[in-house]
Amino acid sequence: MSTTKAIDVVGTARDRVDGRLKVMGTATYPIDVHLPGLAHAALVQSTIVSGRIRDMAVVAAERAPGVLAVITHLNTPLLAQGPATEIGPQPSPPFQSDAVLHYGQHVAMVVAETREQANAAAALIEVTYERDTPLLSFDDPRTSPVFHPWTPDYERGNVRGALAAADVQVNETYSTAENTNNPIGLFATVAVWNGDELTVHDTTQNPHGARDSLAGTFGIDPAGVRVLVPFVGGAFGAGLRVWPHVRLVALAARITKRPVKLELTRAQMFTSVGHRPNTIQQLSIGASRDGQLAAIKHVSRSSLGMEGELINLITHGTPTAYACPNVSTRSTQVRQSIPIPGWMRAPGEAEGSFALESAIDELSYAVGIDPLELRLKNHAHVHPGTGLPWSSNGLLECYRQGAERFGWSARSPVPRSMRNGRILVGYGMARGALGAYQPPCKAIATIRQDGTAFVRSGATDIGPGPYTVMTMLAADCLGVPIERVRFGLGDSAMPKAPQEGGSGLTGALGNAVQAACVDLVRAFVNLASNDGASPVKGCRLEGITVRDGGIQITGDPARFETYAAILTRHGLDELTIEAESAPPGKTSATTMIAREGRFLPFTAPSTGARAHAGGYAAHFVEVHVDPDLGTVRVTRVISAIDGGRILNPKTARSQIIGGIAMGIGMGLLEETVSDRTGRLVTTSLAEYVVAVNADVRDVDVLFVGEPDSMTPLGTKGIGELSITGMAAAIANAVYHATGTRVRSLPISIEKLLGHDPSKGDQ
Ligand code: MOS
Repeated sequence: MSTTKAIDVVGTARDRVDGRLKVMGTATYPIDVHLPGLAHAALVQSTIVSGRIRDMAVVAAERAPGVLAVITHLNTPLLAQGPATEIGPQPSPPFQSDAVLHYGQHVAMVVAETREQANAAAALIEVTYERDTPLLSFDDPRTSPVFHPWTPDYERGNVRGALAAADVQVNETYSTAENTNNPIGLFATVAVWNGDELTVHDTTQNPHGARDSLAGTFGIDPAGVRVLVPFVGGAFGAGLRVWPHVRLVALAARITKRPVKLELTRAQMFTSVGHRPNTIQQLSIGASRDGQLAAIKHVSRSSLGMEGELINLITHGTPTAYACPNVSTRSTQVRQSIPIPGWMRAPGEAEGSFALESAIDELSYAVGIDPLELRLKNHAHVHPGTGLPWSSNGLLECYRQGAERFGWSARSPVPRSMRNGRILVGYGMARGALGAYQPPCKAIATIRQDGTAFVRSGATDIGPGPYTVMTMLAADCLGVPIERVRFGLGDSAMPKAPQEGGSGLTGALGNAVQAACVDLVRAFVNLASNDGASPVKGCRLEGITVRDGGIQITGDPARFETYAAILTRHGLDELTIEAESAPPGKTSATTMIAREGRFLPFTAPSTGARAHAGGYAAHFVEVHVDPDLGTVRVTRVISAIDGGRILNPKTARSQIIGGIAMGIGMGLLEETVSDRTGRLVTTSLAEYVVAVNADVRDVDVLFVGEPDSMTPLGTKGIGELSITGMAAAIANAVYHATGTRVRSLPISIEKLLGHDPSKGDQ
């Protein structure tokens, strides 16, 4: 009998399993869903920023051609709030009162036979408002700070004393603009009722969260709600909440007894699916003359909508960033009359790392030490709060290998001292990090008599590649050729998965998939082991190698049996096992890892023995700045990444490049702007400028580090990692090029030429 050497596909660079579908245009996104009898919805949105609806003239709309329903707060039943998800409560149900809390708030939904009819009728609705004075400033005396339980005040040591005693101090204020996610795929929702059962196709990063929320909204059993989203055309955090329009579409379908579809316009995306709130951050750093950190104080204020809450981890990474004995942080949120905020790639940590890593760069000039040297000197070799060793930490390798590949040693230390002709050249670097996060997750694995495997979980793939890496992982764990493995997701009828967010999905889902696949092999082993007719009788999980769709006694290629043969002899069509991920540091006696077709017991260090580390990054950036025009080009980026075990270097690299591109956007271009009355001005990609290919030039990624010791999969979150520190690396390079420190994102031409438009017109 021929033997195939068992080689792990995990760890090899693989194309996306869904790439062909996407390129051929046959992947079905929520916006592509068409159903018989489909009616179409259009939104009417508030044109005022704050106040209440005094009157709505809807008769003309109701009489317009094709109109099936006009829904407003006047005819909407009581809708319940529904449960919170892992990451907090949902925005309140819409149309429950006449209050207007922000510009672009939905105030009416029109349902008609066609989209054009719905839009035309929506334009006929006349709303009379009563305005009041919106909250548009953090300093408005009518507003007061809100604390979120995920970001409590933190202090270790004596920050005030250490700052006062420090040889050198940096005290600066940094600000970051409001940013808005612009996935190419416009968000869409299709809802259809069948009796008391609801099916919803929705652009969401959390099918189970949407299911539970919608069930709560209408007071029905979650088992009667199914949310489907096999493909998401990008989301970056915009799909993490169950937005008011989603509840409205379900309501519209119930009222009209028709399937109803809503496609958001690009302009509506700016007000309807959240945004990254703006921040103002104060950094105080104290250090010795030789650059040893003595104290860091990081105080942040960020905006919050007029109701609800939002996790925003702006100062979250600061206490663990450096070996510094005295650290304090405070994050407060300030209620403002802004569209309901949400999350955008590395929410809070992208903004917080801009302030911290800019301030560390400023310190490097204050003490006259190279910025990389300064970071090496203050590296947190152990968890600086607890003193525990890290579960893994490749940051030093990120610094070393990144600097080497970039050619950091060629940097001249003096700002404005490097040129390319008349163009100023700057080298900047920064540290990035993203905390470990692995929410609970389940997966289910099936092997069928035809030798195929089907593994699935109710997760989503918003672009990072879970379809691909989970297919690879299942193929390895089961020993089934990858072409015969299918991975399913995007369906709340599948086992419960968390949101794809917080860079936690690969860890959560991967651990669940590995557990389900190992348990499935274990089930086959149990069947075959006691079966005298099986060539692998007497086998044990520890003594087998899985390959070619079956089980072999390790080292004895002749003793092999396919899963299909085992199923046939036992009269089974298939075997299915569901399993749950083990929380980090909480593995059980039966937790195994699969490598090269074999299964090894895995024991995690307990959470009391190690500090669970997240991912690390070191970004090295070269900018070219035109001294007369103030234009900045990011000409070169090297990002060295510790992402733990990398399951697929190709999709992982793609993730990192995506975060770099968004970091360039955040650093130089992206700004959601409202006018002085609070009305949004940037409502298209003409006014809201994102980084395009011309802005993302020579980018290289290198992966360093080792599998994390805390989980059997060994991965770390990388989806958001590379945007952390990225804007700071650019700002630091711009300072090095020009000698001008811009502490306010984005680094626009005006600011670089010495005029900050946020400071007024003078
Ligand atoms: Mo990300 S903001 O956790 O989708």
